[in-house]
Amino acid sequence: MSRYRRASLGSGSGYVPGEQPPDGAHWIKLNTNESPLPPSLGVGPAVEEAVVELHRYPHPQGEPLRSALARHHGLSPESVVLGNGADQVLESCFRAFADPGDTVVLTRPTYSLLPLLARLGGARVVTVPMDGGGTLPEAFATTPGVMRVLCNPNSPTGSWAPPAAVAAVVGAVDSVVVIDEAYCDFAPESCVPLLADNDNWLVLRTFAKSYGLAGLRVGYALGHPDLIADVSAVIEIYPVDRLALAAAGAALADQAHHARIVEMVVSERERLVAALEGAGWDLVPSQANFVLGRPPGGDAAGVASDLRQQRILVRHFPDGDHRDRLRITLGAPEQNTALLAALGIGA
Ligand SMILES: Cc1ncc(COP(=O)(O)O)c(C=O)c1O
Repeated sequence: MSRYRRASLGSGSGYVPGEQPPDGAHWIKLNTNESPLPPSLGVGPAVEEAVVELHRYPHPQGEPLRSALARHHGLSPESVVLGNGADQVLESCFRAFADPGDTVVLTRPTYSLLPLLARLGGARVVTVPMDGGGTLPEAFATTPGVMRVLCNPNSPTGSWAPPAAVAAVVGAVDSVVVIDEAYCDFAPESCVPLLADNDNWLVLRTFAKSYGLAGLRVGYALGHPDLIADVSAVIEIYPVDRLALAAAGAALADQAHHARIVEMVVSERERLVAALEGAGWDLVPSQANFVLGRPPGGDAAGVASDLRQQRILVRHFPDGDHRDRLRITLGAPEQNTALLAALGIGA
């Protein structure tokens, strides 16, 4: 860190992502909640076609993808704003709705990027503990704040609250409610249909998980056009580049492939949960594309390190409430089988 850094940032090094395989050879990467399958075969040709237009800036609002997403969700194009990943949309929500000194209400646990975004913008954070089963507490609604952010399914637990339960808690609050549904395609239901009754809600989605496009960075928010205009007013100019727009459009058009990714993850989740629980792991019930579990004995760091020796990467969070647990992304069937074998568990 240099002596010129803004004092309010402190000495932190920012968001710490999961490790990238240190060399190219035969790693099984189960540490950053990516899709086990690559994207639709339609993506390559769509990107190639877009290359010849790369001397032109992309559409500022991300057309034609924005309109395609609007149709997909049964909303108007003005109800959609695109960003360079859901992360950028989240950051824009903080910029749009929280002034320095304002309070933002988060759950505990939550996506580790959120407190960091609050700090970057000088917002105060109040966290409200979720109970073990992932039930959203009343305090999430009653704690004063200008914005509340809920990840549903949550990260890093995978716990999920049904939309009706979310509405029962935050259906009457007078603040912005951001519902980050990055993992929602792996869960039974979305909060998107409830946007019609809640003009202070934003629902965030991403192409990084269930469309296999983590490498391209495309996310978006859905909500009332006035809220969407607020986010659009602060987001980067041309937030999604031409290649990413073309790729995400092709991925969205191939719903059969998207369904294949979701089905693989959901069926592998059942298999992995059964095998790990059978071997004595304590798992949080997950509706996401990962599971969070405590290995027998609780030496999560040791287990992660053993797996790494065998070229399998899983996520261990050394600080905070989950240091005795590992977050394991659902891989393809053969990857999960290799994981179980490395753990000494029969598949
Ligand atoms: C809850 C949550 N929201 C958003 C993201 C990031 O989405 P994107 O890759 O579109 O920025 C993640 C990534 O792991 C996440 O866990």
